[in-house]
Amino acid sequence: MDNNFDVIVIGSGPGGYVCAIRSAQLGLRTACVESEKTLGGTCLNVGCIPSKSLLNSSEIYHKAQKEFNNLGIETRDIKLNLSKMMENKKKSILTLTKGIEFLFKKNKITHLKGKGSISDKDTISVTGYSGKKTNYKTKNIVIATGSVSTSLPGIKIDEKTVVSSTGALSFEKVPKNLIVIGGGYIGLELSSVWKRLGSNVTVVEFLDHIIPGMDKDISTEFQNILTKQGINFKLNSNVTAVNVIKNKAVVDFTNKESAKRERIECDKVLVAVGRQANIDETIIEANIKLDSHKKIEVNKKFETSIKNIYAVGDVINKYPMLAHKAEDEGIAVAEIIAGQAGHVNYDVIPAVIYTSPEVAMVGKTEEQLKKENIKYNVGKFPFLANSRAKVNNETEGFVKIIADRKTDKVLGVSIISVVAGTMIAELALAMEFGASSEDIARTCHAHPTHSEAIKEAALALSKRAIHF
Ligand code: NAI
Repeated sequence: MDNNFDVIVIGSGPGGYVCAIRSAQLGLRTACVESEKTLGGTCLNVGCIPSKSLLNSSEIYHKAQKEFNNLGIETRDIKLNLSKMMENKKKSILTLTKGIEFLFKKNKITHLKGKGSISDKDTISVTGYSGKKTNYKTKNIVIATGSVSTSLPGIKIDEKTVVSSTGALSFEKVPKNLIVIGGGYIGLELSSVWKRLGSNVTVVEFLDHIIPGMDKDISTEFQNILTKQGINFKLNSNVTAVNVIKNKAVVDFTNKESAKRERIECDKVLVAVGRQANIDETIIEANIKLDSHKKIEVNKKFETSIKNIYAVGDVINKYPMLAHKAEDEGIAVAEIIAGQAGHVNYDVIPAVIYTSPEVAMVGKTEEQLKKENIKYNVGKFPFLANSRAKVNNETEGFVKIIADRKTDKVLGVSIISVVAGTMIAELALAMEFGASSEDIARTCHAHPTHSEAIKEAALALSKRAIHF
């Protein structure tokens, strides 16, 4: 095997594997080292993909139980077979991880199997599954080691009773009572899955609202929708202890305003209070500079403090921590290493929560614009007035477009809709091209589609929405 490379990427998540493919496309001799047995990182193996599989299956199950009858589809004896649902999830993961293996072969990328560590600025040492160590020389290193779940002080994740997202994606039976600590992306997606499959779910959130970072309007509406679906919320609540007693857990928390203490007993606790950079000791030993959040500091070219060592994805000091942001960084850094002008526009990174309905945003929220003292106009359009949403009985949610008051340039968009995650791409593209709300309002949108609500929200900015 060739032991000399132009680029060695450490980690094969969305940042790493995409970087490896783009590097190889650009003619660089590329290797990618991965410590897990399958490629794809957290996203493919224990994150985005398995959660989407369970979100999809659990939604169909829920609909079959609660909605099919109203549509004239009579079903009898609908039963959950959780192990089969999990098998289906495993199959989806396998297809996709095998897909990356295929792409690596197709692009002649060397897959180094084992734990990679930086021995020197031009040497990666790989400890294989048998324990054998091999050194590989490289002109450039890209660190794409991602992130790991965090917990709270004094709360130990055992992945049995107190779990991270990894454990919550593989429960062997539906927990009767599930407590979810954290009302963010992971907390709400997995609350939806287990609520639909029959759990009694309570979300305990530290702040006075869920999904921090999203528009306040969206957060309020979304919480109302999830409450209607039967998810309980305890906001403003500080978890003080989680104790496991004989396969059950007791969660203690205190309301920050009233100081009222509460205790809930449950079968499982999901801790979803964020993720932290996955920093390996060799990154520290290599003297790569970290910021105050223990993330790798990179400049605009994704260069770390050590020459020819780059970093991308969740491990770096750039936000949000999302798979597609990591992918774009992976492409950009490969192009930079190859002497091109790779670049990522951090102002236009869409974010999606894949519940039902979905929540999506791109650009700025009203709260951010107020803080930055930027004057803006808002156009909103509810799905209650969208014909496609109406015929499909999917009328929850709205589109909210925020545009600069002076120039009309679109500054931010938030959507709650069953297809918000798909719809947001149009707005990301519009914003990349510096579109005004008038540009969107004058773009013909197919009828009947949910996307017409985007055009109507753009029209609503100048009070000319047609259907509302
Ligand atoms: P998050 O940052 O989205 O949410 C964490 C939540 O926990 C916040 O609402 C926060 O206020 C709350 N919290 C923090 N400390 C707390 C405490 N002591 N008690 C109660 N609540 C507390 O983090 P999450 O959900 O763990 O997701 C981790 C990362 O993974 C995020 O960066 C997210 O972007 C990414 N992710 C993205 C997904 C997507 O794109 N759909 C899906 C899942 C994860």
